[in-house]
Amino acid sequence: MYRINENYQKLPGSYLFSTIAKKVAAYTEANPGRSIIRLGIGDVTQPLTGPVIEALHSAVDEMGKAETFRGYAPDLGYAFLREAIAENDFRARGCDISPDEIFVSDGAKCDSGNIQELFAADSKIAVCDPVYPVYVDSNVMAGRTGTYDPATGYWSDVIYMPCTEANGFVADLPDETPDLIYLCFPNNPTGTAITKDRLADWVRYARENGAVIIYDAAYEAYISEENVPHSVYEIEGARECAIEIRSFSKNAGFTGLRLGYTVVPRDLRCGDVSLNAMWARRHGTKYNGAPYIVQKAGAACYTDEGKASIRGLVAHYMKNARTIKEGLKSFGYTVYGGVNSPYIWLKTPDGMSSWEFFDFLLENAGVVGTPGAGFGPNGEGFFRLTAFGTYENSLAALERIKAL
Ligand SMILES: Cc1ncc(COP(=O)(O)O)c(C=O)c1O
Repeated sequence: MYRINENYQKLPGSYLFSTIAKKVAAYTEANPGRSIIRLGIGDVTQPLTGPVIEALHSAVDEMGKAETFRGYAPDLGYAFLREAIAENDFRARGCDISPDEIFVSDGAKCDSGNIQELFAADSKIAVCDPVYPVYVDSNVMAGRTGTYDPATGYWSDVIYMPCTEANGFVADLPDETPDLIYLCFPNNPTGTAITKDRLADWVRYARENGAVIIYDAAYEAYISEENVPHSVYEIEGARECAIEIRSFSKNAGFTGLRLGYTVVPRDLRCGDVSLNAMWARRHGTKYNGAPYIVQKAGAACYTDEGKASIRGLVAHYMKNARTIKEGLKSFGYTVYGGVNSPYIWLKTPDGMSSWEFFDFLLENAGVVGTPGAGFGPNGEGFFRLTAFGTYENSLAALERIKAL
């Protein structure tokens, strides 16, 4: 008789977005004429840009002709894309990363969920609290997290690093030593960025303690401040202790097209074992490469026109972020994020819990956001709004909040 991976049974239900959907459905039924403004989920709303669409069309045409048709893509990604990434995302910023250290994939979610496979089953993970849920859940599935306490929302074998107003939402170095450290900057959900100095502390700590940093930089394109690193490899020593994960979703609007990549430097070695070789082996065995047409679209993001078009997309969302942030501040809210990130993290007013504020906002303003508690216990008392809506909707949501 077969048996299942019991670790899956340990996962608590994905309570957050299903609860939001139920509450919104109930509200819509009770208020049929009332429009709802959704500033909850992290999906983009602007269409793909001209250079990307052109690249897609021309790659589709190539696929229709015998001379230019392509079958399986190289598992690690086409050289044209890996070279463009190494040049533009890393070398242009002074980071010593070469194309053979870049592994093209269909997105950062898969990579951030899969990367844990490289590490021993009894590795201890450290995560920020609040956190993007994939890091913990993928380790639950692998049996690394111990038991879940529904009363606290914590797993017994995970090191949680509180991100609070007191530490500026940038985790302090943990007391207990982890093997794997998940960091995400600019951060989802708090919208906070890390400075070079603080990231250098993490790199030093990881090297001193024999830990690996898994650095999720999915929101890198939103960085606007000078002292904020775009890549962990801007920090000396990171090649020996860090893996970086990137996405084309949030900068270029590829949430539906699917493209991302992971950097595993050749200097990252456990004894004489290369993690670069391990990840290459994993890709070769379990992945058959992102589609040619999508990789062509990805490469179009690195031409001059492509870069300009993407800057336009990011500028659009950042205008929303500024508008929402400044508007909320002027109404007396305490607001974080929104400067190097499309997320605005606001403190719920009058001591409301984050779910109470969710209900209050939905019922009185018809605005949907995400309760901070859904991202972890230290998200309690906070609420996430995203700048990924349209400008009109961002303004309309503000007007409604002002009128509360
Ligand atoms: C921190 C973080 N990493 C990764 C992802 C997923 O990116 P992708 O669309 O490339 O899978 C998200 C999506 O919301 C995210 O917030």
